Amino acid sequence: MTVVSSRLDPSGPEYGSRREAMLAKLADLDAEHAKAVAGGGPKYVERHRGRGKLLARERIELLVDPDSPFLELSPLAAWGTDFPVGASVVTGIGVIEGVECVITANDPTVRGGSSNPWTLRKTLRAADIALQNRMPFVNLVESGGADLPTQKEIFIPGGRIFRDLTRLSAAGIPTIALVFGNSTAGGAYVPGMSDYVVMVREQAKVFLGGPPLVKMATGEESDDESLGGAEMHARTSGLADYLAADEHDALRLGRRIVRRLDWHKAGRPPGPATEPLLDEDELLGIVPEDLKIPFDPREVIARVVDGSDFDEFKPLYGASLVTGWASVHGHPVGILANARGVLFGEEAEKAAQFIQLANQSRTPLVFLQNTTGYMVGKDYEQGGIIKQGAMMINAVSNSTVPHITIVMGASYGAGNYGMCGRAYDPRFLFSWPSAKSAVMGPAQLAGVLSIVGRAAAEARGQAYDEEADVAMRQMVEAQIEAESLPFFLSGRLYDDGVIDPRDTRTVLGICLSAVGNAPAAEPAGYGVFRM
Ligand code: COA
Repeated sequence: MTVVSSRLDPSGPEYGSRREAMLAKLADLDAEHAKAVAGGGPKYVERHRGRGKLLARERIELLVDPDSPFLELSPLAAWGTDFPVGASVVTGIGVIEGVECVITANDPTVRGGSSNPWTLRKTLRAADIALQNRMPFVNLVESGGADLPTQKEIFIPGGRIFRDLTRLSAAGIPTIALVFGNSTAGGAYVPGMSDYVVMVREQAKVFLGGPPLVKMATGEESDDESLGGAEMHARTSGLADYLAADEHDALRLGRRIVRRLDWHKAGRPPGPATEPLLDEDELLGIVPEDLKIPFDPREVIARVVDGSDFDEFKPLYGASLVTGWASVHGHPVGILANARGVLFGEEAEKAAQFIQLANQSRTPLVFLQNTTGYMVGKDYEQGGIIKQGAMMINAVSNSTVPHITIVMGASYGAGNYGMCGRAYDPRFLFSWPSAKSAVMGPAQLAGVLSIVGRAAAEARGQAYDEEADVAMRQMVEAQIEAESLPFFLSGRLYDDGVIDPRDTRTVLGICLSAVGNAPAAEPAGYGVFRM
């Protein structure tokens, strides 16, 4: 065992203030999560219950195995937009009859469960997760279809939902629709494209056009039941494979369907696991409020990995990036973690080598981000920092082992790319409440704009307006700061959720187990490395 020795002093003032700052951020996070859970608010929740229906999260709870975890994804979707937090759909990973599935559930208390642009992104992300990790995909359907006022944002790209369903099926990944209510127009293709369809008697309504539209189109008089009721689909059209007596029955049938899939995971089973020797609770007191102050990521690793056991690779070289081997809940991982923020050439080379080693042994990689980007300056440019950073980005881009990224602190500049940011398709990406991400820090960005503006004024032979410059800087700094915060970024689906640092080990464990549904990918072929 190579147990990490900790230098953290949980009785010291530094730890105390960091912990307090993190707890304050977590309280804010809880308040935002509560908005998602509240759905459309008391009026619509009561109306829904009054109709004898279960809420979206209650449906999920009854679908998954008792006392099993449900890893909800992107609960803050649509944060900071005109749409309610959560984006009127719940998505996540849950275990049904021992099978890890991707589950989505429309929230009918939010604008009739209709899909706005953020609902669409969240739904597409869920389908991507099912495809990449080969997990059965279960949709709990009750939706008013497209959010009509924003149809221009969703109608055309939204077609992908139905394409994804049949592509999942073609890839041998089962798709299941449990229809609890409305599933009209385009939405009718959710059951239409699914492998298995359950409909709830006297509740499911699945038609291309409802009675008013049919009347308009053909003059035909019809009613909901004969056009798209569960009985009709089970007995006449054949779109429903199972007729459920009520919602509980539909969930029972859904569980039976998954049970009969005889689903087997294709990846390596995990080995034995031991808890970290150091206290996970202490993860609250590691990240400084001011991200300019560095912190040692080994303190994080020691509280996340099995037995706090970490075999560091190349510890004496490129010390600003920590690399090494460990396991999490018995799943072997390679870890890359920023130590002092800036990435130099040595760190980039070390990362590229380490990523190749992980690919050689088919070991998933975990990226722990706290980076201000690659080093700038004459010496570094002349030393080839672009080539070196490109080498790391090449390795990350073409690596075929699963990647999971946790943004602990800063994630600025190309450091976001080299450390497997969202654009590099990690299988999962979560942020801590302390995370911040932008093209560069707010002060630097405002300063750059100021220098550029000043030079442009000089080139035109004009005097630079210093007063306006101060105002511009303040405004830009505030804007960039707000846009770099985790709620904002999570709202735009740039991560899969903001998590409590204390949950990092659990979340990583669920994700590593989920990625184990898929077989190991083909070995990586890299782009040309510039040497
Ligand atoms: N787009 C935007 N808003 C929608 C919506 C949609 N597709 N569907 C429902 N809403 C809104 C309603 O306007 C209502 O808003 P309000 O409470 O502020 O007035 C709220 O969501 C709840 O709708 P309501 O009709 O009261 O709920 P319900 O549970 O009784 O019925 C539906 C839900 C989905 C059956 C019904 O709203 C409906 O038929 N919607 C249109 C369905 C459709 O044809 N969609 C086109 C798909 S392409």
